[in-house]
Amino acid sequence: MSIVHASNYHIYVDESYDKLNDIVDSMNPSRVFVFVDSNTEELCLARLKEKLNSDFLSIRIPAGEKYKTIQVCNGLWESLIKNGADRKSLIINLGGGVIGDMGGFVAGTYMRGIKFIQAPTTLLSQVDASVGGKLGIDFLGYKNMVGLFLEPEAVWIDTTYLKTLPVRELKSGFAEVIKHALIRSRALWLKINSSSFDISDIEWTRIVTDNIEIKNFVVKQDYKELGLRKTLNFGHTVGHAIESHFLSTEKPLTHGEAIIIGMHCESSISFLLGHLKEDELKTIHHYLDSFYKAKIDIKSISQSLLEAMLLDKKNVNGNKRFTLLKSIGTAIFDIEVKDEVIIEALNLY
Ligand SMILES: NC(=O)c1ccc[n+]([C@@H]2O[C@H](COP(=O)([O-])OP(=O)(O)OC[C@H]3O[C@@H](n4cnc5c(N)ncnc54)[C@H](O)[C@@H]3O)[C@@H](O)[C@H]2O)c1
Ligand SMILES: [Zn+2]
Repeated sequence: MSIVHASNYHIYVDESYDKLNDIVDSMNPSRVFVFVDSNTEELCLARLKEKLNSDFLSIRIPAGEKYKTIQVCNGLWESLIKNGADRKSLIINLGGGVIGDMGGFVAGTYMRGIKFIQAPTTLLSQVDASVGGKLGIDFLGYKNMVGLFLEPEAVWIDTTYLKTLPVRELKSGFAEVIKHALIRSRALWLKINSSSFDISDIEWTRIVTDNIEIKNFVVKQDYKELGLRKTLNFGHTVGHAIESHFLSTEKPLTHGEAIIIGMHCESSISFLLGHLKEDELKTIHHYLDSFYKAKIDIKSISQSLLEAMLLDKKNVNGNKRFTLLKSIGTAIFDIEVKDEVIIEALNLY
């Protein structure tokens, strides 16, 4: 088992459920609710039921980003009320980033806030979404428009759950691993570039812990994202615009797929503005292209992407600000970028 110390809580990477049971027992909740989606209900809930000492009531929502909405929250709040949830109830969010972000948001606002534990079951939520206290939902088609910062009682991670994750979802989560390497860890970059590294056949505990340590370090320095935490946004200014654009289409991208495209374009911007050297840009592009290449005509949607980027939370006075790379392993933030440069970078995809 490994433990990472966040500010007011701990993150456990732990296949034995002893720690989880200790935490739940010590909280002595009046009732335990487990939020699941249709997939984690089928694939993850039985294991939790077998291992958790407390009885609980599970509440299911449909799976997928398109259900990360206020309407689904209404249903969750209603279920809590109907099932007698009170201030001493506990919510365990068993699922990916959607369940974690939305379940935490519902817990954090129900009766002005009840306690919750994040039990992430996708790679993306294990290495990223469950750490850092950001909770929320999409609104009017815009990603994470409504939400709050609030820390869970604990994050508890069983990497065994990754065994049932479809490869497409595993790769989506791995996009954040690539991001962590690019912004902060040349060592991690070298590890994932080594010829023996194969994401369909690795022992996840170590790599999940390494990534949580990177994210947790950054979040601890800058919880409210006034400075360093913005580096975690690398790839996400363009990436979120792309994700929002395709959300309402018949072929939505996963978060990670959008972020891979975003990192491609934002590495190009880093180069075009003279921060990143050409050889490193080529190395990054080569890695990203062989990892995932979307068949998308970016040129035809560049205006709508620029409009979506206007809503990025890092912008100041309507000027677009980016996190960029100085080199592999070092990021810089709050860099103002003109639309012409963004278009040029999009065209390089
Ligand atoms: N709060 C943050 O700091 C933060 C950071 C990054 C991403 N996010 C958010 O996280 C979300 C993306 O997370 P995600 O990729 O985990 O999405 P997700 O929750 O939709 O999960 C992806 C899919 O995997 C299924 N699934 C979950 N666990 C499974 C398992 N063990 N086996 C088989 N299938 C399983 C889900 O049902 C879903 O269909 C986005 O909404 C994004 O905005 C939040
Ligand atoms: Zn992300």
